[in-house]
Amino acid sequence: GNKNINAKLVLLGDVGAGKSSLVLRFVKGQFVEFQESTIGAAFFSQTLAVNDATVKFEIWDTAGQERYHSLAPMYYRGAAAAIIVYDISNQASFERAKKWVQELQAQGSFYMFACINVYMAVLDSLLHVAFLRPVADITVKLLLFSLNCNPNMVMALAGNKADLLDARKVTAEASSSFYAIEAQVYAQEYGLFFIETSAKTATNVNDIFYEIAKRLPLV
Ligand code: GTP
Ligand code: MG
Repeated sequence: GNKNINAKLVLLGDVGAGKSSLVLRFVKGQFVEFQESTIGAAFFSQTLAVNDATVKFEIWDTAGQERYHSLAPMYYRGAAAAIIVYDISNQASFERAKKWVQELQAQGSFYMFACINVYMAVLDSLLHVAFLRPVADITVKLLLFSLNCNPNMVMALAGNKADLLDARKVTAEASSSFYAIEAQVYAQEYGLFFIETSAKTATNVNDIFYEIAKRLPLV
């Protein structure tokens, strides 16, 4: 049968990396040369058919400005997927992207640890109640699910503005420079899916969402 899946997705990255532009391209097929800097965050949704499932992305486009940093956990907490965006013509934005990966992964392992502790404690207490014993495991799993205990976030690294070939500072695999290997190797090491995109020319924009959809559990 056809499955419908809702997936919360968050975009994180430096100011001007192109988060809003990627979303605008994916959701509306548009690009604007002078995209305004996001204030707080913006919400969008878009559906995508993958295999025999329909994935409805609930997208949080966050603001890259440092003063909004403290809001970020509200948007990435419980998210099924994250796209961390940097600008290939801006080395500092790549460094900022790595910081986001660190923050998400630290949060992920902390969260997983907390979830496992809750699981063990609740399971243990349920096992003392005779009639709950047969359903204890599934009961705890349902409880954890309702608490949004999902540490298995799908993470993608997007090297955006791939159309700016002359301004390139962070190079991809095909190139022979130092940074080529850097982005690819970094992504591999940290278990991210890596792709270069251009919101301007639309290169790989649908692809990144499609690849994320394919990596979601239950698809
Ligand atoms: P904040 O909301 O401030 O965090 O920035 P953002 O990451 O949302 O960046 P935004 O989408 O606003 O893009 C910043 C600027 O880069 C805009 O002027 C865009 O037109 C431009 N831009 C975005 N993506 C691309 C791209 O793929 N290629 C080129 N050449 N320019 C782009
Ligand atoms: Mg923005």
